[in-house]
Amino acid sequence: APVPVLTIDGPSGSGKGTISRLVAERLGWHLLDSGALYRAVGYAAGMEGLDLSDAEAVTRCAETTRIGFRPDPTGGETRVIVNGLDATDELRTETAGAAASAIAAIPSVRQALLAKQRSFRKAPGLVADGRDMGTVIFPDAAHKVFLTASAEERAKRRYKQLKEKGLNVTLGTLLREIEARDARDASRPVAPLKPAEDAVRVDTTGMPIEAVVAKVLALVAPAG
Ligand code: C5P
Repeated sequence: APVPVLTIDGPSGSGKGTISRLVAERLGWHLLDSGALYRAVGYAAGMEGLDLSDAEAVTRCAETTRIGFRPDPTGGETRVIVNGLDATDELRTETAGAAASAIAAIPSVRQALLAKQRSFRKAPGLVADGRDMGTVIFPDAAHKVFLTASAEERAKRRYKQLKEKGLNVTLGTLLREIEARDARDASRPVAPLKPAEDAVRVDTTGMPIEAVVAKVLALVAPAG
């Protein structure tokens, strides 16, 4: 039988990252944070001084950038290693999110990251977090979830996350940035942010994390 995949797609701040990590832990499955790959390429392209709209140069960058995930020895968040250097702190900023969104609209960049994403599918299973996990990367996934939340709630969550990590942001600016990024992700011609036809939609506005986790786990292993 094929290795089971649970795809969790949705806009930024919908809770995807947290929910995917917790569900993968509970199931004992692997985790793919596909957004980190786009952030890493955007970051590497910036470091090389590339024009982010130069499709050819950025595609070459996507093909050659080495991206690795390393568990944090102290049990904290997974470290993202870009060309041998720990770029975790640089990648979490909204500037990195915007760069990721810019280069993610280039079809050949998405193509360059395709095989790497599929290589995460290993026994006993995979939880894949992103925008096109259920529509493009794992269309045959057995379980598909599309998480949403109101724009205000998503901005508040991201605000809290970034503040906890010591970043200097304001709620109003963040709300505008997130809305702009989501609009770009949803309107691009290739792999736009949208639910797969067979995805279960979950609106997480006002829902505690544990309740969302329970709901998603119930989809994978229905009780009774
Ligand atoms: O999920 P995260 O906020 O880290 O993603 C950053 C950006 O990367 C998104 O705004 C989107 O443009 C892009 N992305 C994508 N496809 C994915 C994951 C992320 O286009 N599967």
